[in-house]
Amino acid sequence: MVNQFTGITNYYDLLMMSGYYDYYNIAQEAYSIVGNNSQVLELGVGTGLFAEKYMEIDNTCQFTGVDITPSFVEIAKKRLGNKAKLIVADGLTMELNKTFDVAISHAGVWLFISCGDRLELVSHIPDVQANYQGLKNLARHLRTGSYFLLSIQKLRIDFEKNLPGGIVYSQLIEELEDKVDHHTRKKSYFFKKDGEILAQEQLTVTLFRQDAYQKLFNESGFDFQGINNDNSLAIYKKR
Ligand SMILES: C[S@@+](CC[C@H](N)C(=O)[O-])C[C@H]1O[C@@H](n2cnc3c(N)ncnc32)[C@H](O)[C@@H]1O
Repeated sequence: MVNQFTGITNYYDLLMMSGYYDYYNIAQEAYSIVGNNSQVLELGVGTGLFAEKYMEIDNTCQFTGVDITPSFVEIAKKRLGNKAKLIVADGLTMELNKTFDVAISHAGVWLFISCGDRLELVSHIPDVQANYQGLKNLARHLRTGSYFLLSIQKLRIDFEKNLPGGIVYSQLIEELEDKVDHHTRKKSYFFKKDGEILAQEQLTVTLFRQDAYQKLFNESGFDFQGINNDNSLAIYKKR
């Protein structure tokens, strides 16, 4: 099973640009770690919103974005033009035939959520073993010593948000399986107007608890380096 965002493609930007994420700030934070002239890989580039801000801040980088949702990549291509190389591919199996100086996953294939005083790794790749395969595949695309930056978000429970044009966004989270080291969640996203559903999507994500994600990164060739000053990015280094 793959987590494509096809069903909500036409409404994704409306939600994200209503302040869902502070793309400029997170891009600035990432850039302050990465520096100039880098070969940057974004995993789960989506419609290119993070990439756009990143390249505004650093116009010396060479930016590649990968995403599994073709309709998102179409929007990203319109947004970024020829400034970035954009590829429809699954992070699990991608073969880009080059190595990068840094990989960034901003709410992309992997991300962290903070749940009080602990973090959980959220993965859009549902199968546990496939996460090892995906991270090893990413490691293969990074030169030794490169950073892998993952965004850290606050846990968002069910909520509704009013968007322009009388559109209301809502999301529902349902716990599915609960194992010792990980659990799975179904996330349902809805865009409605006057009570009618305009667009919807359902995804299943796997959430790894601390011991499990430490093992996952360690065995895939990544060492934990720390968390940045505003707690928005977890920093790993390719061994
Ligand atoms: C919440 S969106 C974030 C998009 C973008 N980074 C942003 O900040 O707006 C998550 C993205 O991850 C992509 N994704 C999920 N699983 C993937 C996979 N296995 N390989 C590549 N992309 C994937 C989805 O298609 C989606 O575009």
